[in-house]
Amino acid sequence: MAEKISFEAPRGMRDFYPEDMLWRNKVFDAFRASADLYGFDPYDASVVENYDLLARKAGEEVGEQIYHFLDKSERRLALRAEMTPTLARMVAQRQKELPFPLKWTTIAQCFRYERMTKGRKREHYQWNLDIIGEDSVLAEAEVIGAACDALRRMGLTSADFKVRVSSRKFLGELLAGSGIPAEKHAQVFLALDKRGKMPDAEIAALLRSGGLSDKEVDATFAIMDTKSFEACPELVELFALAEKSGFADCLVFDISVIRGLSYYTGIVFECFDAKGEFRAIFGGGRYDNLLTTIGGEPTSAVGLGFGDVVVTELLKARLGESAAKGRKGVAVGYMFPSERDAAVLVAAKLRAAGERVELALKAQKPKKFFSRADACSAAKAVFIGPDDVEKGSARIKDLETRNETDFPL
Ligand code: HAM
Repeated sequence: MAEKISFEAPRGMRDFYPEDMLWRNKVFDAFRASADLYGFDPYDASVVENYDLLARKAGEEVGEQIYHFLDKSERRLALRAEMTPTLARMVAQRQKELPFPLKWTTIAQCFRYERMTKGRKREHYQWNLDIIGEDSVLAEAEVIGAACDALRRMGLTSADFKVRVSSRKFLGELLAGSGIPAEKHAQVFLALDKRGKMPDAEIAALLRSGGLSDKEVDATFAIMDTKSFEACPELVELFALAEKSGFADCLVFDISVIRGLSYYTGIVFECFDAKGEFRAIFGGGRYDNLLTTIGGEPTSAVGLGFGDVVVTELLKARLGESAAKGRKGVAVGYMFPSERDAAVLVAAKLRAAGERVELALKAQKPKKFFSRADACSAAKAVFIGPDDVEKGSARIKDLETRNETDFPL
């Protein structure tokens, strides 16, 4: 006998059964519609990337989580953990020809060898929106506005989520004002990003190992209590633009938003559910130096990544597990093999008119047919019996209202 193998997907990888696809499609449809509404162009690339492009600075969690392997020619390859390095590579490759500013979007499958918790899988889909080659804060406003639009489109309101924004540049100025030199800021950012995930005493130890004196560590913690962003012109402008664009009710200032990726240079943001029950829904920011760090020409950039895992958990919690289900199409069935051809003709006519048809593959008793039509969430049903063929007409039944209408066969 064959050895029994596990029916489970590899740990952290997801199977999408048809009922899961209803949710995935609901979320992806909103991603695509909002990207289009805001004028973003789709792009794509392979999930397999050169490892060297993805290899990261020490201390960055995402670098430790990369799935990598050697191919048969000993090339070091990796499954991408995020889309941003690939986007930077694609832009750098054609930097002379591309019509900047670029507004690009994709839904990328990403892999991270994560410690599995609620909202964190080892594989997820991430909707990306990026604007490359634009310094104006309107670029930040456009990507955040589009992401808020997607959340609304999925059925949430600004009472359900908040986008927490800050600026690494602003934080850098505050740190510099306390005498902490710029070359120490990258380490400080990575340490501060772990706040809330580890005790402050451990963060302080991280800061000290990054070369900060006890006094500088105290000053850093004091800065983290900053409540006003008036001294940061780009944040002031972002809030003003959000007001005009209609998503100011979704924005809050939060100095503690740092982001765990080291390439961010300016405004950074992260979206959470308002009750604080779930992990981050989306995150992003300005990353003006990424192209130069991979060898391209200096180019400003701003963007975000919005995963499918957390938002689906949130939607199920707020809208109900069955909210992605909707009745659609027509189920067509027949009582005996002698009515099969009439049913095939009806199905062909309905499909020619653009209707989705679930045609029964064999003759069935009415009870069985109607219970399957219900289970398949059909909106309407046509069941053909010998009398119908004889009369030359059948009935189409609305499965919600139970209304029936005759039509000629
Ligand atoms: P990130 O914050 O690492 O940013 O990921 C963005 C979003 O992807 C998260 O907020 C979350 O929704 C989702 N996500 C990340 N890891 C996982 C996971 N293991 N399981 C489920 N969902 C996950 C980036 O990746 C940046 N590259 C985003 C960006 C684009 N910045 C500029 N452009």
